[in-house]
Amino acid sequence: MPKDFISLADWPAEDLLALLDRAREFKRLDREGKRPQTLQGRTLAMFFEKPSLRTHVTFEAGVTQLGGHAILLQPDQVGIGTRETPADVARNLSLWVDGLVARTYSHELLEELAQSAGIAVINGLTDLLHPCQVMADLQTMAERVELKDASIAYVGDGNNMANSLLNGAAVLGLDLRLATPASHRPAARIRQAADRLATRSGARLSWTEDPREAVRGANFIYTDVWTSMGQEDESELRRQVFAAYQVNDALLEEAPDAWVMHCLPAHRGEEITDSVLDGERSIVFDQAENRLHVQKAILERLLSHKN
Ligand code: CP
Ligand code: NVA
Repeated sequence: MPKDFISLADWPAEDLLALLDRAREFKRLDREGKRPQTLQGRTLAMFFEKPSLRTHVTFEAGVTQLGGHAILLQPDQVGIGTRETPADVARNLSLWVDGLVARTYSHELLEELAQSAGIAVINGLTDLLHPCQVMADLQTMAERVELKDASIAYVGDGNNMANSLLNGAAVLGLDLRLATPASHRPAARIRQAADRLATRSGARLSWTEDPREAVRGANFIYTDVWTSMGQEDESELRRQVFAAYQVNDALLEEAPDAWVMHCLPAHRGEEITDSVLDGERSIVFDQAENRLHVQKAILERLLSHKN
């Protein structure tokens, strides 16, 4: 088992499935008012360079519910790269706490923190990947169909969400169709690594520029913002590039049985309409709830023993 949770591509399928089983158990126990205290006395540091609602609250609530404690670090207080090197920050934290959740712009910075840390480092989102979100998404899908039979259509920007969905589908052998403009496909190194994993897992990974083609016959239609955090200067241009990729009632007509997914926050009226996001087929709040349960599984697995 890897020390860190940085990319789904680093984790074997059986470990990801075990985490999903434990997440389902945590959800059931939570409904019964039971909260196993498996992280009593453990401490999680949390470092966010970008805004967050779901990731921050679910990690802090999750570790607290397991009997542990969380400390939120402010970037300007820590001063990574200005006050201290990333490696020195990671070495210091490893002396005091049991794990670190970090949301950074640069994926390389997160990797550098993980390499220098003796403790587990968990990816709370980078410009490249968002694996914890995809774990919650997989739990949400598995609540509706057998995961191995799931067919997922991702429509929009080939961003961190698309990259992590590719990783998850490739490891677990799922059917993922991506519909993005040719100019905004997922990163080439992610696609190539996913293709290699897919030859082993049997995943069917395909790409088209046509959202309607991607969603036909899909169980799940997934979208995310056209302008991710840090890309705000490009938002006007991006509205034009992605105009044909909105998930709206007309697109849903092509996939009468599909559920609609979004990691949130949504830019309502851009990548998704109000009527779809608030409609009967939307399962976005199940995804948001499952962040809590699946991250408890990840925390328990990585923080129970100091590495
Ligand atoms: N989906 C998600 O990661 O939400 P936050 O940006 O609010 O953490
Ligand atoms: N692609 C989005 C995901 C937010 C959870 C972003 O990076 O801003």
